[in-house]
Amino acid sequence: MLPSDLDPGRIPDHIACVMDGNGRWAEQRNLPRTEGHTAGEQSLFEVLDAADRLGVGWFTVYAFSTENWRRPVDEVQFLLRFNEEILLGRQQELHERDIRIRFIGRRDRRVPRRLVRRMDEAAALTRDNTGLTFTIAFNYGGRAELVDAVQRIVDGGVKRVTEKTIARHLYDPEMPDPDLVIRTSGEYRISNFLLWELAYSELVFSDVLWPDFGRENLYEAIKEYQDRDRRYGGVGGPAGASDASGSDPADTA
Ligand code: FPP
Repeated sequence: MLPSDLDPGRIPDHIACVMDGNGRWAEQRNLPRTEGHTAGEQSLFEVLDAADRLGVGWFTVYAFSTENWRRPVDEVQFLLRFNEEILLGRQQELHERDIRIRFIGRRDRRVPRRLVRRMDEAAALTRDNTGLTFTIAFNYGGRAELVDAVQRIVDGGVKRVTEKTIARHLYDPEMPDPDLVIRTSGEYRISNFLLWELAYSELVFSDVLWPDFGRENLYEAIKEYQDRDRRYGGVGGPAGASDASGSDPADTA
């Protein structure tokens, strides 16, 4: 049921999440950091479920960043296996709920082939689903995404680059820009997440550590979003939104 203080007509279509604070949650309990990630899985699927029930169309999470390779080798190994196990353990349930799973990020040699296969399988299994699109940013960096886009544009011999050219070369050109980006754990940074896509997103920062973040916290973040006035550089209302991505007349190209 929709919480009474949320406006059903203004549920964000795309919510993206930086699930931060797993390590600190575990350290506060004298547990290994990896226990924090395990606890974070529960939060992730509670919040995904709540978003789905609210009618959110796109839900994106930062599962592993291009910078996360710098963590201790044990933690990196854990995170690789952890992601694989989540995919294996959850894909059927997500498929039955008509959720479409997609991935954004670099598929370089550091990503184990087996994990790449699992990602492809999960995406293939759910590709025709028409419910919420759950995008997992894995080995993802916003700068890397832009570098990869520019490289492909150069390789294609394009002479005139517009905003639309760049947008068409991102990892998932169909993914709409996030309306709301949530970062947990009291950190006020973007940390290389969706740099291009979040140009006009509303950012909501929560002090709650990710493993403690649940559906009520999601509702609070959406309430904060609904209380904001999105102007897209204009003077009011979302009318200017389309201009935000296509202000160059040549963008019609
Ligand atoms: C940040 O906490 C969290 C991560 C690096 C990983 C979170 C990943 C998941 C919950 C699983 C996602 C997997 C799939 C397949 C969707 P941190 O370790 O940076 O916490 P800290 O800032 O307290 O150290």
